[in-house]
Amino acid sequence: MANDSDSTTAPGVDWDSAAASFDDEPDHGLRDPEVRRAWAGRLRDWLPGRPSDVLDLGCGTGSLSLLAAEQGHRVTGVDRSPAMVDLARAKLAGRDAAFLVGDAAAPPVEERFDVVLVRHLLWALPDPGRVLRHWRGLVRPGGRLVLVEGVWGTVSPVGIAADLLTGLLAPLASHVRVERLSGDPLLWGKAVDDERYAVVATM
Ligand SMILES: C[S@@+](CC[C@H](N)C(=O)[O-])C[C@H]1O[C@@H](n2cnc3c(N)ncnc32)[C@H](O)[C@@H]1O
Repeated sequence: MANDSDSTTAPGVDWDSAAASFDDEPDHGLRDPEVRRAWAGRLRDWLPGRPSDVLDLGCGTGSLSLLAAEQGHRVTGVDRSPAMVDLARAKLAGRDAAFLVGDAAAPPVEERFDVVLVRHLLWALPDPGRVLRHWRGLVRPGGRLVLVEGVWGTVSPVGIAADLLTGLLAPLASHVRVERLSGDPLLWGKAVDDERYAVVATM
């Protein structure tokens, strides 16, 4: 990746090649129990309290999908990389979860979901406003988008700022909540000083 980030996607990345080592980053693989606990706690807060249908777009190796499944949710994951999908299927073997190869901007799903969950992908998709409008159509009435994004790096930052994302969501959502994540080193396995946040947008 041509910048000093470590948590993002970027146009031109070969995700099939990256899949085998993707989980080596603390916030990707969630192998450190403290990091895992930190993400599990946030997710519990962002997802509904009752068992729900969660669509994890750009699911990667399925780390957040697994946390959601462990919290009692039914998960459908979509990723454009077949290698990522293979790893996600293995990670959630035996769980109430299904994984599909497809484009997150137009996922190959027929039904609607209680939650569309997306971490570290939206910023890199062409025309995020159009993508958000499509995702709104995938959410059941009263459902929510949970978007984990940021602006990574300091030399040549990439990403989408929270203000820009909330501006795009304002006409689509009935309520938008931003949670700042930069100040919690347990999420990242280290201290970070760039912009990292989650948005929970109720539809
Ligand atoms: C930075 S990783 C994030 C993975 C996962 N969301 C996580 O947070 O652990 C970005 C993922 O998005 C996938 N991806 C990139 N562009 C995509 C697209 N247009 N549709 C679906 N998946 C895409 C990549 O294959 C990769 O698995």
